[in-house]
Amino acid sequence: MEKAVIAIHGGAGAITRASMSAEREQAYIAALSEIITQGQALLAAGGSALDAVTEAVRLLEECPLFNAGVGSVFTHQGTHELDACIMDGRSLDAGAVAGVSRIRNPILAARAVLESSPHVLLIGEGAETFAFENALDAVNPALFSTPERWAQLQQVRDGEALLLDHDAPPLDERHKMGTVGAVALDRAGNLAAATSTGGMTNKRVGRVGDSPIPGAGCYANNANVAVSCTGTGEVFMRTLAAYDIAALMEYAGLSLQQATERVVMEKIPVLGGSGGLIAVDNEGNLAMPFNSEGMYRAFARVGDAPTVGIYRERTEGGEHG
Ligand code: GLY
Repeated sequence: MEKAVIAIHGGAGAITRASMSAEREQAYIAALSEIITQGQALLAAGGSALDAVTEAVRLLEECPLFNAGVGSVFTHQGTHELDACIMDGRSLDAGAVAGVSRIRNPILAARAVLESSPHVLLIGEGAETFAFENALDAVNPALFSTPERWAQLQQVRDGEALLLDHDAPPLDERHKMGTVGAVALDRAGNLAAATSTGGMTNKRVGRVGDSPIPGAGCYANNANVAVSCTGTGEVFMRTLAAYDIAALMEYAGLSLQQATERVVMEKIPVLGGSGGLIAVDNEGNLAMPFNSEGMYRAFARVGDAPTVGIYRERTEGGEHG
């Protein structure tokens, strides 16, 4: 049986049919379909899981619909700070960057950290200098800005101004989420995961979430599973959500389905977190659970037609959730 498979996500959140125009829905479906098809082709041609997740996330970063790369959300000060991580299940090698604003594709910088440095996580200017030394393109941060994200920031800033009297105002659910990611199992049986994000709208400058933290928002180990998360980063960090799935499988003997449900439906909500994740195990089983209203997602097995999902109901044929 052909086990090679790739899955992608474009973020989770308050994504409902009622809040989505037909035109916008079609744009998301088209983007997810195009990207998953390219990842699938890479695996079908014998490409590695590491290359497949790198390319899938690079394409998601290039698409302004998603909160990573072009289309990233704004910080409170109206700037962009991007985070990304990639992990190779063969070796447990990982590379990540955080708080970068001048690298076109943070996931390529993370890959360069993995392959060309003795480090795992580089931040800010140091990460950017390293990326440029490794032949990655420098861009003006304005490249990442879109009118939609700017409008979101204005809404949240206004909301906070109104709520200041009440202390610690909650961010509107619509603005919390958004991250992209990919997980893959290749024909050689290797797993890889990649995650990239602009973070949270209105985040404090310097804030880093789960996405660039191996074990929190991204994890891959050939022994069991590859995971990429999306959601309230602080909670995914506190629960080490991605690694927790591997640990539940390794130490507690849970199946992929049981482990992902335990983390997404029990452990994350208990701490007030919301979101979801995509995961593939070393047998090619897939799980894509989320506890929010929706999660942009897609998967494709080599040899099969891709499947795309947005909402909770399974009208697009999502395997789980
Ligand atoms: N999960 C992405 C973030 O919180 O930054």
